[in-house]
Amino acid sequence: MLLALGGVILAGGVNAADLDAGRKVANMCRTCHGLDGYAMIPIAPHIGGEPEEYLEAQLMAFKTGQREHEMMSVVAASLSAQQIADVSAWYAEHEARATLPDGVDPDDAPQECVSCHGADGISQLVDAPHLAGETNIYIDTQLKAFKRGQRSHEIMSEVAAGLSDAEMREIADWYAAITLEIVSEE
Ligand code: HEC
Ligand code: HEC
Repeated sequence: MLLALGGVILAGGVNAADLDAGRKVANMCRTCHGLDGYAMIPIAPHIGGEPEEYLEAQLMAFKTGQREHEMMSVVAASLSAQQIADVSAWYAEHEARATLPDGVDPDDAPQECVSCHGADGISQLVDAPHLAGETNIYIDTQLKAFKRGQRSHEIMSEVAAGLSDAEMREIADWYAAITLEIVSEE
């Protein structure tokens, strides 16, 4: 039985993630995040090719109220843990590819961020998101949310607390200028 499920067992009695089921759930997300995870509106993040762990953790955080947003709290409340696992697997199955603007030197990337988010905005950790090609509005909003405590995370709350508004904007501009391409691996 365990082998038949691919050996993947998630917490809380959730079965192994099902990509086809995840694709169906993604129909509820596509007007804002696209079916492949390339965002359609500037306040929504690109989520295609994000680490599965990260996507699932954020959806559970919206569902439990640990992270709040007028749109996403409503969306996540309507999803079961199984649907969250499935849709996270669907978006994570895509690949995010980042390209720096012509003539830009990766060494000029914000040094205090690159160890986790990469110079090109591709995450180096399973529990951290890509920042490549996110709008500067989105990045700026999240940094302010961490700083003000509307969003909380042991590392990011501290990182954001140390940034001025101008520094946030400058860093947001670095990552927003990167071209993101989301490729379906199917
Ligand atoms: C009406 C638009 C809308 C719909 C529909 C929607 N989202 Fe979102 N989503 C957003 C916005 C806006 C944010 C940014 C929230 C914030 O600022 O904290 C977001 C954030 C997220 C995040 C956090 C990503 C990150 O980088 O932290 C995830 C994951 C996510 N959405 C997944 C989904 C999934 C899966 C669905 C469908 C089941 C969905 N969303 C449906 C608008 C939407
Ligand atoms: C030690 C690792 C680490 C460092 C350094 C770090 N981050 Fe993060 N970052 C994370 C993790 C982990 C998360 C996910 C937080 C969560 O789960 O809510 C995150 C989340 C974010 C988000 C939210 C993105 C989204 O999609 O919702 C932004 C924006 C962000 N970081 C920007 C930065 C910036 C800018 C810097 C440098 C000034 C930085 N981070 C430095 C680990 C790091």
